[in-house]
Formats: sequence, structure tokens, C-alpha cells
Amino acid sequence: MDFQFNQGFARTLDASDKLASYRERFLFPQHNGKKVLYFTGNSLGLQPKGVKEAFAAECDDWATFGVEGHFLARKPWYSYHERFTAGAAQLVGAQENEVVMMNQLTVNLNLLLVSFYRPAGKRRKILFEAKPFPSDQYAFASQAQLHGLNPDDVLVELLPREGELTLRAEDIVNTIRELGDELALVCFGGVNYFTGQLFDMKAITSVAHEVGAMCGFDLAHTAGNVPLSLHDWNVDFACWCTYKYLNSGPGSVGGVFVHERHANNRDLFRLAGWWGHNKETRFKMGPEFDPIPTAESWSMSNAPVFNMVAHEISLGIFSEVGMQALREKSLRLTAYLDFVLKEVMRSTGQKLTRITPEDPNQRGCQLSVIVEGHDRKLVHTLYEQGVVVDWREPNVIRLAPVPLYNSFEDVYQLGKVLEQIFTH
Ligand SMILES: Cc1ncc(COP(=O)(O)O)c(C=O)c1O
Repeated sequence: MDFQFNQGFARTLDASDKLASYRERFLFPQHNGKKVLYFTGNSLGLQPKGVKEAFAAECDDWATFGVEGHFLARKPWYSYHERFTAGAAQLVGAQENEVVMMNQLTVNLNLLLVSFYRPAGKRRKILFEAKPFPSDQYAFASQAQLHGLNPDDVLVELLPREGELTLRAEDIVNTIRELGDELALVCFGGVNYFTGQLFDMKAITSVAHEVGAMCGFDLAHTAGNVPLSLHDWNVDFACWCTYKYLNSGPGSVGGVFVHERHANNRDLFRLAGWWGHNKETRFKMGPEFDPIPTAESWSMSNAPVFNMVAHEISLGIFSEVGMQALREKSLRLTAYLDFVLKEVMRSTGQKLTRITPEDPNQRGCQLSVIVEGHDRKLVHTLYEQGVVVDWREPNVIRLAPVPLYNSFEDVYQLGKVLEQIFTH
């Protein structure tokens, strides 16, 4: 499509956007009495309307029922996490026996690594993409140490080629093959938080399995951003957070996927707790752990209800819209942002280098851009103009036009603000 950098054109795109009305379902922060232009849904998603009332309902049920609320609350707390099974499975392309909502992201990653990083003999290495989110790297290192290994000997960070900003698919495949029987685990972000690069999870899983390694993904920047088929891709495990694209509030509950072939394998070691125990006999309070033959057996503690309230509302919206429709809009919206940034560069002379791949199949909604000659002050200047973006040292802004609530006009307005800043 031929894009134009003017308000009328952006409004025409909004007028033909079938998802445009979803914007009204979210609460936008205000700046100087006006809705901000919000481009940080990749960091913390906006609050869906109805969340406050849902919290109030749980508070009321707690006040009314006390402990009996576990069974008598309108949404009984005992089985609260089960409310998410169908929606989460649909979101990540899993079977219902392969997902569970529990804890938070890094905790879940560590719990999954306990099961899926089992170094033995020469097979000890963990391969991950360049610049993973540091929490993941800390988790990999600590897991290596847990096995008495030196992280420097087993952690392999795959860097882009000299002079390149992102990874080439063939380099990922070749590295996995080269590491061969030394490789215990491949664990990538589905979309890298810094570069915004979307990896071919199916291909990575397939080649990891070819050399006998496990393969898992941190989907913090992927779930709710791009469609996923974790079951069909044969992924071993995955985890995600719900506070970014999934709009469920700060520190909200995390999600876990374990492929059914592992979930129902009683011999696979998992750290145990009573919430992963057979529901039929849980309250017999026996001494021996009898794992539920699903991903639920990784959950150890009873459901953190207040950490899940917003997720129910948000997941409902995703089930209603569907990831395919979101992705279709997302591709157009991000392409428009890419176009607008080029227009800004052309009209102002400001150098903007996109780190995120040009190929739409290799990116989600986020574009990461090097802004030469600027520092963190740029973010403050943008905020003064009512624009919220994210800054990463030394000179990168990450912009996430989120198809659920960002409009084409938002993108146009961002371009105008940038144009004004760069010409003064
Ligand atoms: C890719 C990735 N991994 C891990 C984390 C850490 O998440 P948490 O604090 O929920 O453990 C984040 C947070 O932004 C992230 O983006």
C-alpha cells in the first residue's frame, strides 16, 4: 500500500480499521488534560475498562464469604486459575492440558529450566540470542551454577555478524548444528525485547530437536503480539508475562506452556507443591506428590487471585478479537510507523536507524530505532509533548504501536512531534 504522511490519510486508515472501536475499551493516561500518545504497550499495557469493578467484586466476595469464598465466591478462588485455560491455550496455540497461569515470568523460567535444562556428560550448553533480557541470562547462569557448572563454560550468546544489528536465520540454524551434542538447551525470546526481532520458533525448535537439545521460548514480547502455534511447532516449553501486550497490570500473573509429551511424563522432574498435585486427593493431605498429568503440575501454590483479576478481562478481549485479526492490523500499523519515520528522517535530516528487521515476518509490532546525537532527554522532551516511548541506553527508542488500542492517527501524530523536535 502507498502510504501518505498526513492526517487525512491516517484518518482514512482508521476509518477502515475493523478493530478501531477496541481503543474505547482502554483507559489512556492523560497529559495536560489530553490522552497521551502511548507507544509503550511493550512495557506495560493499558488498563482495560472494567478492571476496577472486577477488583471491587473480589473484595466484596472476600468480605462476604471469608474463607468460604474459595468455593462460594462468584468466581470461586479454588479453581480461579482454571478460568484462563481455554483463553491462554488459544492465545499461544496450545492444547488446554499444556498451559497454566502461575507466578511471574522469571520465576516460571527458572522453574521450567529446572525441568528442561538437565546437563549431562558433554551436553551442557545453553544457546540464546544476543542481548536477551538480562533476567533470562541471570536465570541461565544460576541454573548452570545449580548444576555445579561455570556459566562461562556453558552459556553461548549468539551475536549478529560484524556490522549487522540482528541475527540471520541461517546463522541460528548453523550454530545449533555446530554445537550439536554439546547443546542441552536452546532458549530464545520469541521476539527479542531490545531489537524487536521475531524468530522463526518452528525452525529453531526443529533444528534443536535434530541435535537432541531441548527448546524453549520466553514469550514476554511475543504473547499477544504475534500468533503462535506452540503445540504444532513442537516447542518443549515457554513462559510469558501478562503485563505487556496482555494488558493485565503491573506484576500480573505469568503464563506457562509445557508440551503435552512432557506434561504427562511423570518421570520428568519438576519442583513440587500442593497445587500441582492430583485434585482428587489434594485434600487428603498425603505425603507423596502425585502430579496432575498436565502443565498444571508445575504450579505449586494456590492461585494469586488479585494478581489475575485484570487478566480475565484482558484475555476475554483477545479471545473476542483473535490473534489473526490483530496481526493483520499490526502489520499495517507498524508498516505505517516505519514509513512515517522515514518521512521524518527525510524532512528533518535526523538520522534514524531501524534496528528491527525490515521483513514483517521477522518482527512484531515494535520498532527499535537508534536516534543519533540524542540522549535520554529525548524521552522527556517527547513526554512534555504528550508522547510516551521507551528509551534504552545508549541511544535507542523502542516504539510499539499496539493494534488493540493504537490508531494510525497516533502514529501520524508521533511523526509530527518528532519532526518538530528534530527541526528545533
Ligand atoms: C524478555 C523478558 N524476560 C524477563 C522479564 C522479567 O520479567 P519479570 O519481572 O516478570 O520476571 C522481562 C521484563 O520486561 C522481559 O521483557
